[in-house]
Amino acid sequence: MECSLKIIRTPQELQQTTQLLRREGKTIGFVPTMGFLHEGHLSLMRIARKKAHVLVASIFVNPTQFGPNEDLDAYPRDFKRDENLCCEEGVDILFYPTADTMYRTASSSWVDEEALSGVLCGAMRPGHFRGVCTVVAKLLNLVLPDFMVLGEKDAQQLRVLRRMVRDLNFPVEILSSSTVRESDGLAMSSRNSRLSSVERTEAVSLFQGLEKVKERFAAGERNAEVLKALIRETIEKTSGIIDYIEIIDNESLESFQTLETSALVALAVRFSDVRLIDNVVLES
Ligand code: PAF
Repeated sequence: MECSLKIIRTPQELQQTTQLLRREGKTIGFVPTMGFLHEGHLSLMRIARKKAHVLVASIFVNPTQFGPNEDLDAYPRDFKRDENLCCEEGVDILFYPTADTMYRTASSSWVDEEALSGVLCGAMRPGHFRGVCTVVAKLLNLVLPDFMVLGEKDAQQLRVLRRMVRDLNFPVEILSSSTVRESDGLAMSSRNSRLSSVERTEAVSLFQGLEKVKERFAAGERNAEVLKALIRETIEKTSGIIDYIEIIDNESLESFQTLETSALVALAVRFSDVRLIDNVVLES
């Protein structure tokens, strides 16, 4: 496909390019991804495309956010397809580095967010958010964006990165966009492609559980255990193994028994070695 997409492979070239763009007074919008793009990623790119002079996207399956027994090698990849999609969405610069150029030998500096990273996915995947924060901090230093757009499906990631940006004074605004779903309600994820056809059918139970919680909450139920049980019963009818189902304060991510003003309902479920997450926010 003919388009003006520029692919940059090294941190040095990216930083030189974006420094020049900033000097020319161009605004830069940034969408970080791990590739195998789907409508969810594309919706973030469309938001950034409308607002910025220059749209930068990155594709990097970041090894430091995967634990030793996780799916780093199995994570789906298809660069040609991703490149075409980036062309269609009007991406100007696609950063596609290798792990060697991103992490120099003996790289020994890390970014750790300590208040929000210890629960939910952080509790199940030790070191995960250290890897996410470190790579996003590096990407922000390379892309120098005015704003970055993130998906709300990764609810904890969004909150952790907002906190990191606030605490470390990164001069970037974070925008978020709601989860894009398949027609049956399953949240779009690159990992969905690794589900068997039976698991794909069962995976909609995450969405169904959340929908039941929304209904009961609207009918006045405020007991977190009662609401969590609704999700658990739905998942337990499938082959999915529950990593966690939590209903917690939407800002502090601390747990409570009786739902207060704004609650985050979040869950992670494994189908074979494919781990899916989803969430909903309940506002009283
Ligand atoms: O959400 C993701 O795809 C990744 O965690 C991110 C933000 C690109 C960092 O590697």
